[in-house]
Amino acid sequence: MPRHLLSMSDLDAAAIRTILDTATQMHEVQHREVKKIPTLRGRTIINLFFEDSTRTRSSFEIAGKWMSADTINITGKGSATSKGESLRDTVRTIDAMGVDAFVIRHGASGACHQVAGWVDAHVINAGDGTHEHPTQALLDAYTMERRLGSLEGRHVAIVGDLTHSRVLRSNLISLRRLGAAVTLVAPPTLMPSGITSWAHRDGFTVGHDLDAVLGGEGARPVDALMMLRVQKERMSGGYFPTAREYTVGYGLTRDRLARLTDLNPEIVICHPGPMNRGLEISADAADAAQSLVLDQVSAGVAVRMSVLYHLLAGADGGADAAARVPRSAWAGSAA
Ligand code: CP
Repeated sequence: MPRHLLSMSDLDAAAIRTILDTATQMHEVQHREVKKIPTLRGRTIINLFFEDSTRTRSSFEIAGKWMSADTINITGKGSATSKGESLRDTVRTIDAMGVDAFVIRHGASGACHQVAGWVDAHVINAGDGTHEHPTQALLDAYTMERRLGSLEGRHVAIVGDLTHSRVLRSNLISLRRLGAAVTLVAPPTLMPSGITSWAHRDGFTVGHDLDAVLGGEGARPVDALMMLRVQKERMSGGYFPTAREYTVGYGLTRDRLARLTDLNPEIVICHPGPMNRGLEISADAADAAQSLVLDQVSAGVAVRMSVLYHLLAGADGGADAAARVPRSAWAGSAA
């Protein structure tokens, strides 16, 4: 296992498989009356979130607590960053207290990589700008596999605001490493730049016509449909004429859902959340029997328990926490 989880590219197929297998065991804890195992007793995990979050932050906190770690939440607004303290000073300050791991969400792509170079603790990327969200990709794979079995040879279509999606970037790496075929669908304005050469290099396909991909003449049947959120908060200009036109072209509407389930009743629908109901996904689709949205949320705890376990208590991360000397606090001390 790597020391940090900054990108899905930190995990080869075997490491992904190990994390997903352990998550299956961790998931069982969720159904116990007493949800507590001693695995990370004595470890301290800092959830440092500079962007809002419901699912990721709470599931990391629950994951740590269920494994008996001490988990502490710090947000940008409530920390000294609001007084102008830099990210570097913030994380080095907390690291000096001897913490074991940082779970970080930040608006800047690459922020977690930078933090990993500044601290002694393990760093887990909980979403950095438009770059990556590796634990989301892991929980997506876990959820799809529980319904579909192995993803090897399965066809996953990822639809929506791809330009701004860190979930897309992590999922592309993860799904290809697990052997799935992937098709991306978006209006040209929401396709990442350089997508053609990227697709050629990483072996996925790209389309702009959602209905053609989902059920057009000769189209490869889709096993899983991942709808991505339109990230209005990251949009400075107009990426589509109106919300209505976006929905007609790229939304999972009630009619589209009916056509899809006629073609393949076993199809599964994922969305990382939060959903814009009525924009990229209709309420009928979000709540349909084929929807795995809440299964994804449930899996989030088990997968994050697994990640924390492998990074903090696995072979490479399991050194006695008391033996770690915080670099910035003790270096040069005469004591
Ligand atoms: N999927 C996801 O990252 O959701 P949150 O923003 O609520 O954490």
